[in-house]
Amino acid sequence: MNEKMEKAFNSQVNAELYSSYLYLSMESYFQSVSLSGFASWMRIQVQEELFHGIKMVDYIHERGGKAKLEAIAKPEEKWETPLAAFEQVLAHEQRVTGLINNLIDVALDVRDHAAKAFLDWFITEQVEEESTVGQIVDRLRLIGNDSSGLFFLDAELAKRVFVMPVK
Ligand code: FEO
Repeated sequence: MNEKMEKAFNSQVNAELYSSYLYLSMESYFQSVSLSGFASWMRIQVQEELFHGIKMVDYIHERGGKAKLEAIAKPEEKWETPLAAFEQVLAHEQRVTGLINNLIDVALDVRDHAAKAFLDWFITEQVEEESTVGQIVDRLRLIGNDSSGLFFLDAELAKRVFVMPVK
């Protein structure tokens, strides 16, 4: 694989693992305020992000490259409200979408169409994530200070299960 492409993939591995770490920290925050459904939703998110990172590591290796792991930044530990946490998730996912778009720019720049095809899966995934998280943000805004609404949403988020995406 082109050196520039490999470097860009490696930096995305770090971004995916950081996402996983951030959501693990959010899981811990939600546990600390006894919102176990939100915490459980975050755990699934942690698993998905780990999957994304490892999927990229596998791809780097498949293309004859070498995965290089860098330090993962320390995530924040607490949020003022569930809404503040989810607004951060949305902003974070929008940033990740931008990173994937940059990665595709590199792939096109070095004429690596195989990498572009691989990255298309991530683009679809980002559309789904931004939409799901955006809906949760909207609902939290509607709920405002209504604790019964919050508990209802907590029960709903508890139903999410991790489904291993087909490779
Ligand atoms: Fe791996 Fe949430 O993007």
